[in-house]
Amino acid sequence: MGGKEAEASKSGGLFWRLLVSLIAALVIATVVLTILRDLHYFKKHRAPTHPINKKYADALQIALQFFDVQKSGKLVDNRISWRGDSGLEDGSEANLDLSKGMYDAGDSMKFGFPMAFTATILSWAILEYGDQMNAVKQLEYAHNSLRWITDFLLNAHPSENVLYIQVGDPEIDHKCWERPETMSEKRPLIQVNTTFPGTEVAAETAAAMASASLVFKQIDPAYSNSLLMHARQLFAFADTFRGCYSISIPQVQNFYNSSGYGDELLWAASWLFHATKDESYLNYVTQQNGKIFGNWDSPTWFSWDDKLAGTQVLLSRLMFFGSIEMSTVENLYLQMYRETAEILMCTLLPDSPTATSERTPGGLIWVTEWNPLQHPVASAFLAILYSDYMLTSRTETLYCSGNSYKPDDLRNFAISQADYVLGTNPMKLSYLVGYGSSYPQHVHHRGSSIPVDADTGCKDGFKWLYSKNPNPNVAVGALVGGPSFNESYSDERSNVKQSEPSTYNTALIVALLSGLLTTSSVVQSYT
Ligand SMILES: *[C@@H]1O[C@H](CO)[C@@H](O)[C@H](O)[C@H]1NC(C)=O
Ligand SMILES: *[C@@H]1O[C@H](CO)[C@@H](O)[C@H](O)[C@H]1NC(C)=O
Ligand SMILES: *[C@@H]1O[C@H](CO)[C@@H](O)[C@H](O)[C@H]1NC(C)=O
Repeated sequence: MGGKEAEASKSGGLFWRLLVSLIAALVIATVVLTILRDLHYFKKHRAPTHPINKKYADALQIALQFFDVQKSGKLVDNRISWRGDSGLEDGSEANLDLSKGMYDAGDSMKFGFPMAFTATILSWAILEYGDQMNAVKQLEYAHNSLRWITDFLLNAHPSENVLYIQVGDPEIDHKCWERPETMSEKRPLIQVNTTFPGTEVAAETAAAMASASLVFKQIDPAYSNSLLMHARQLFAFADTFRGCYSISIPQVQNFYNSSGYGDELLWAASWLFHATKDESYLNYVTQQNGKIFGNWDSPTWFSWDDKLAGTQVLLSRLMFFGSIEMSTVENLYLQMYRETAEILMCTLLPDSPTATSERTPGGLIWVTEWNPLQHPVASAFLAILYSDYMLTSRTETLYCSGNSYKPDDLRNFAISQADYVLGTNPMKLSYLVGYGSSYPQHVHHRGSSIPVDADTGCKDGFKWLYSKNPNPNVAVGALVGGPSFNESYSDERSNVKQSEPSTYNTALIVALLSGLLTTSSVVQSYT
């Protein structure tokens, strides 16, 4: 080009001068656009640059409907023909409106601990993969479902150190088999407070609100601010009045017993740091509390009870994208979280030297008899995140005891778990209800099992539980418990371990499927 420029200036030809200006303008425009993109100027709803995988898009569109199946309260834009208003008086004994929120599983309980976890996972999925969800027109459904839970959580936190964590009494609730629309039993409330603290549930609720505040930041700033204020208060309550919620409230032990609160404290502080950029939350996870609760180098399974693996992956972000100034000490400790996340990734990769043996012959991660699919799906979600963090930060290699792996290896693991769930399994059964040609017909779910026009009450409703007929209403989007270790599945309502779905299971599969919609980079910062 130099020669041509020289020629242009020598001859003074208009054509060459125009051409040079045009090229210069193009170069400048490209540079400016690149800078703007890097500044996330176009962060809101960039169109994914790679093609959308139709299978996962179809499955996502189905999975998200389960949140509509589980909604309590006065329904808005109801998509499920067999659902109606219910739980309208919930909270009234404390003069609170706790009518919204979601029923936990096949029953009509609102358990605050797993419900908050559901919201946190849904927020995380939206923050990472909202553009992809938007490209398949599912983002608005995800927003609406998330808000349906956070509306409930906000109302459940009426003052700084009080949080309502349960609506309904399982002892009463489980003595009936009826549709939520017709239930008439008492729906007592349980709270945690300074004398009966509940660190895990308060911290998980803080995590849910902090992550959701990021989701709603641009859409509804006032709502987002309110979420953040509640999140800060709840975290302070959780941390100041430390106590295991299942010791304060022993009744919860039979349902969502907690194995400890250290993981929720770190998880909530990590989300609060992402949401506020307030150093004190970073200090929280990188100093004393990290050392006590971090359990570095010993990865555990990510679940509604154990948030450590999620925390490790979430904090790895800060190292991958290095967007903040950190002290050497902070760096060192964040490195511990990332290393632990890497160890976990190495256990997930099926041919790594440190691969976990907790797998079925067909390759499904399998850890527990009750609700077995929660672990493979949660693990696959973390793997797809880690893969995308590597890809986006141009980190080419993950080392596992000397062997090297690529982001695609993690993605392939995630795909293997998702495909198993969707029907690539010995039973040739999709464990996602409503997806594919063959899926469970006897899901352990009251509303799904009782005909809408059946005139039954509390006790005589049990005939629908024991009926041999398939469910009259499809619990669309339910992710059932899943197969046994030998990969058999017995499609019976009474087989609760395998046939009961849960709202948090659906949040996990929604998150996984969103990550599989297409290959594209993730945002480098949520804000
Ligand atoms: C604190 O919570 C416990 C357990 O839910 C409850 O029994 C007690 O009444 C609460 N305290 C107050 C002052 O409401
Ligand atoms: C609940 O968890 C605690 C602490 O991990 C444990 O000691 C207790 O036995 C558990 N309770 C039940 C009913 O499993
Ligand atoms: C598979 O495991 C389940 C649950 O442990 C058991 O009931 C069933 O008989 C086993 N099936 C086969 C074919 O081994």
